[in-house]
Amino acid sequence: MPKAYVFTRNGGPEVESLIDQDVPVPGPGELLVAVRAAGVNPVDWKLRDGYVRPGSERQSFPTVFGSEAAGVVEGIGPDVEGFAIGDEVFGNPVTGGYAEYTLLPVAVTAHKPAGLSFTDAAVLPVAAATAYDGVRQLGLAPGSTLLITGAGGGVGTAAVQLARHSGVHVIGAAGAAKKEFVESLGAVHVESGPGLADRVRAVAPDGVDAVFDLVGGDTLRAVAPLLADPAALISAGGKPLAVELGGAAVARARTAAVLDEVAKLVVGGVLRTHVNRAYPLLGAGDALRAVESGHSLGKTVIEVVA
Ligand SMILES: NC(=O)c1ccc[n+]([C@@H]2O[C@H](COP(=O)([O-])OP(=O)(O)OC[C@H]3O[C@@H](n4cnc5c(N)ncnc54)[C@H](OP(=O)(O)O)[C@@H]3O)[C@@H](O)[C@H]2O)c1
Repeated sequence: MPKAYVFTRNGGPEVESLIDQDVPVPGPGELLVAVRAAGVNPVDWKLRDGYVRPGSERQSFPTVFGSEAAGVVEGIGPDVEGFAIGDEVFGNPVTGGYAEYTLLPVAVTAHKPAGLSFTDAAVLPVAAATAYDGVRQLGLAPGSTLLITGAGGGVGTAAVQLARHSGVHVIGAAGAAKKEFVESLGAVHVESGPGLADRVRAVAPDGVDAVFDLVGGDTLRAVAPLLADPAALISAGGKPLAVELGGAAVARARTAAVLDEVAKLVVGGVLRTHVNRAYPLLGAGDALRAVESGHSLGKTVIEVVA
């Protein structure tokens, strides 16, 4: 039977398990996909801990981990157009990506361009698409200055590149160990941690035009006063606090059209995925631990052998 990496109830790593599961059956508007790669994101362990997505119901258990995946279509549910058996696709699964088989709803599934690997495609639907949505939401003019916190993580890595591509000056806050990496993306690096706002002022004496926050908490509180207009603050890392401070959450599009756009940017050489480490499905727990540390560099992926 096919394997899947699940959590059996809410809790810590002790509730994780690799199990055998039936091949899922695609419902209306869904594709059965043989997974080749699945991205690993902070939301995966947050859901295991008990986080419930706004508008979602509590999970039934066991729940397969994983919010983004790429693979090959092996089955097609009712009311699906534009997809065929054998198509290579990527998107946001409804049944979890850390598995040999998953279900992708066509509304959030795109065809994988031939020039894009499964591994690269698997990390686009959550982190890169969030970066794309956020940079578009800010709509900054070329020459503006944007501060990105958590600039060396999954979303930050993509956000720095996309903002730079729009001609925006980027200040990237990240740990000292990520200085070279953040600079290689085209940002001015400032070290995160206490005193961050002063370090930003030192490199941007005229202030910053916008903040894209990916950390939340004390970091978000510290950088919010740098803005003349609090509305120019968006966050994927601390949404309620961003709103409290006068800003907003990143408004996620979650459409196949955005996935197509992001894939084109990768194939066109504008956006690099920076997959830092790939793990086999058997090592899914280690992959999660790497992301759960809160300090991963770029993206972490699980690769599923065909
Ligand atoms: N709303 C959405 O749809 C959506 C989508 C994607 C992500 N998110 C959320 O956005 C956040 C970022 O996601 P991600 O995938 O980029 O995560 P990630 O890959 O884990 O990166 C987060 C970055 O934050 C930095 N960081 C962690 N703790 C910190 C602290 N105490 N102070 C300063 N920096 C700290 C880390 O950098 P250093 O090692 O340099 O400290 C790390 O690179 C997460 O909360 C995630 O759940 C939301």
